[in-house]
Amino acid sequence: MRDRPTPHGGGQRRHGRRHPRAVRRSGRRPHPIRAGLTGRGIAVIEDAAHAFGSRNGRHRVGATGDLTCFSFGPIKNLTCGQGGMVIPRSSDEADTIRRLRLLGVAQSQRERANITTYRVDSFGLRYQLSSINAAIGLVQLDRFDTTERLRRFLWRAYRRALAPLDGVTLVDVDPDRSVPHLCQVRMPHRDRVFQELRAQGIGVGVHYPPNHLQPAFAPWRRPLPATEQVGEEILSLPFHQHLTETDIDHVVAALGQALSP
Ligand SMILES: Cc1ncc(COP(=O)(O)O)c(C=O)c1O
Repeated sequence: MRDRPTPHGGGQRRHGRRHPRAVRRSGRRPHPIRAGLTGRGIAVIEDAAHAFGSRNGRHRVGATGDLTCFSFGPIKNLTCGQGGMVIPRSSDEADTIRRLRLLGVAQSQRERANITTYRVDSFGLRYQLSSINAAIGLVQLDRFDTTERLRRFLWRAYRRALAPLDGVTLVDVDPDRSVPHLCQVRMPHRDRVFQELRAQGIGVGVHYPPNHLQPAFAPWRRPLPATEQVGEEILSLPFHQHLTETDIDHVVAALGQALSP
């Protein structure tokens, strides 16, 4: 295998009223919304579900001073099985989020171990990460340097392998600044190609069908032709850090065959 980065044994462990607006962050370009909202008591929450490890300017997403949410679901760059993380902007915000995630209880789990009661003084949800999931996430975090290099390397390997295929457009990612989370392509006849590849045991998927076409959003539906066209053309190729270049060549060869008339 050419130039594949080798795993290494470790890495650093890194550990008035507001109206939230979610801004999806895939590590590609700064959003223009914040400037207009500053000073009006409106908090922008960055939805950085896919962007763990990516950079926004000189900083990692999450270290840019914004209220940021990451997802650590099973297919994300950093996984803990299921769960995620909020990066608060102040200790007050951190305190509020801690209470919110644990039924409004004011004391931490550690503090509660040493007292016979606890205080519930605000609204709360049962949203805490389980210790088992947290343990998985910490081990994955220790390996993240390797994960990051492998994902960039594999995405570039896909880009090279896909270049000669007619009729396939790679969905652009900047692998110098982003840690690729998916490898997506666009093509005509996506549904047929999807079925043919699945029939060969190749784990392609679609991320994501357009939200505005979901029945839950029917009351607000309006035509979004560009989104609808993309929704019909996108295909996610198998992508995770345990792939090899041989796997990629196999997927791309099968894709080429599925596309040929
Ligand atoms: C853009 C975006 N936001 C939020 C989420 C939700 O993440 P979670 O399932 O960890 O809550 C996802 C999941 O993939 C996502 O793609």
